[in-house]
Amino acid sequence: MSGFPYMNRQYLFDKYPNAVVTSDCFKLQDEVITQIDDGEILVRNHYLSLDPYMRGRMSKAKNYAAAQELNTVMQGGTVGEVVESKHPGFRAGETVLCTGGWQLYFRASPSTENNHIRKIDVSRIPMSVYLGAAGMPGITAWYGLNKILNPKPGETLVVSAASGAVGSVVGQLAKQKGCRVIGIAGGPEKCDYVVEILGFDDCIDYKAYPDTETLSHELKQLAPNGIDAYYENVGGYIMDAVLENLNPFARVAICGLIAGYDGRSIPINNPRAILVSRASITGFIVSDHLDIWPQALAELAEAVANGVLIFKESVSIGLESAPEAFLGLLQGHNFGKQLVKLV
Ligand SMILES: NC(=O)c1ccc[n+]([C@@H]2O[C@H](COP(=O)([O-])OP(=O)(O)OC[C@H]3O[C@@H](n4cnc5c(N)ncnc54)[C@H](OP(=O)(O)O)[C@@H]3O)[C@@H](O)[C@H]2O)c1
Repeated sequence: MSGFPYMNRQYLFDKYPNAVVTSDCFKLQDEVITQIDDGEILVRNHYLSLDPYMRGRMSKAKNYAAAQELNTVMQGGTVGEVVESKHPGFRAGETVLCTGGWQLYFRASPSTENNHIRKIDVSRIPMSVYLGAAGMPGITAWYGLNKILNPKPGETLVVSAASGAVGSVVGQLAKQKGCRVIGIAGGPEKCDYVVEILGFDDCIDYKAYPDTETLSHELKQLAPNGIDAYYENVGGYIMDAVLENLNPFARVAICGLIAGYDGRSIPINNPRAILVSRASITGFIVSDHLDIWPQALAELAEAVANGVLIFKESVSIGLESAPEAFLGLLQGHNFGKQLVKLV
């Protein structure tokens, strides 16, 4: 039986930020959904994922993906429940992962948006995890670790933004491979979590080492034999400090450079460190590698279900909380995967 009409609420992208994102970059709008067409489904979004990449799309600067257009619904990954279907492949009540955006309901055409709508099995793990450890961030960790860094047992690996959605998975998978793992994170609470709960060997609170020299010195204390692999999420002086401690032929995976997302300049100040170490530095974007998603997803979901991959979520409540939560994510206020609960 149909439940029309549905009262949708959504955030539009309203204004380009100057540098720091402000809440007036977003505009709230209501709409009434009275029907869907043949071939369409209507999804009630339960969780919205907030991700650093959204900042890059709120800009006209050159990027690997198209910019978000003004006056369109803010893009974003979601999980939710199909509430109406006029598509033969979907039934009301099924749970799906899609890019449903910053809104309560997502009206979608699965046949033309095939890659973005996947049915998910929520019998063993909560649906929200498909936006985190067993979703895009987890797959990003899996790809950078396995396909770029490829660390051997006994090697020393460093990962920045270590308590976050990507970094927490990187470190846990690297520990499972027999590496010595050092995280870098902001604040003692995050560092304690990384070591005591996630099982990293050490974690450096970069806020206690606010420049290249002091951070490099601390890294040298914790990795006296040097660093073999670095998973970069941040950039800036943190990257400079790690580069100074690389071993010959070390590998660096550039996953993200969040310290510069507001447009701040984050140069590499000592490129000689790359020459001296003969390091390989590789940038990557996970959506370029859709071929590995099924394998990575299956492994990550299994690991979460078996309790060998630990995850943490920061959940803000209600669609209206999304702008503040997003601003917080860009400033490190999140602790674990940042989500917005929509039901
Ligand atoms: N290449 C790809 O395909 C791909 C895919 C997904 C994500 N990423 C990148 O991966 C990185 C992590 O993403 P995530 O989703 O896992 O986010 P997250 O780590 O859960 O959250 C972002 C974290 O970045 C840290 N941070 C923010 N500003 C910082 C600064 N100026 N200096 C140092 N640290 C800062 C904060 O942690 P602290 O409190 O510890 O500072 C914050 O909690 C981001 O750079 C993102 O763009 C890349």
